[in-house]
Amino acid sequence: MEYTKSLYQKYSLNPINFGRMNDPSGAAWIKGLCGDTMEMYLMIKNRQIEDICFHTDGCGATYACGSYVTEKVKEKNIEDALGISPKEIIDALEDLPKDHHHCAILAASTLHKAIADYLLKD
Ligand code: FES
Repeated sequence: MEYTKSLYQKYSLNPINFGRMNDPSGAAWIKGLCGDTMEMYLMIKNRQIEDICFHTDGCGATYACGSYVTEKVKEKNIEDALGISPKEIIDALEDLPKDHHHCAILAASTLHKAIADYLLKD
């Protein structure tokens, strides 16, 4: 029987959209309750997220949450992106450990703050 990895296992081992961006339309940096940080960078045109990446010094769970968020909102408009919640991330990743649910809060909050940064500059 073939073993299927959960999104959590997949993204924590092989994060996607990981990195930093020069001259983003919006960006944010947040230090979570655990002391880990997340950065997020957005390239937005006509209110649509054309490119997005994140950087973190956190654990595998943080990589998984950042990967999910960035993949989910890429090519979406900013109103849809603002609708992403920590609960959606937790549900989608399937087996994110309970003591790492705060990593989902960090990822959603960093995205929302980066969008706010764009809106305030716009
Ligand atoms: Fe600190 Fe994930 S954000 S352990």
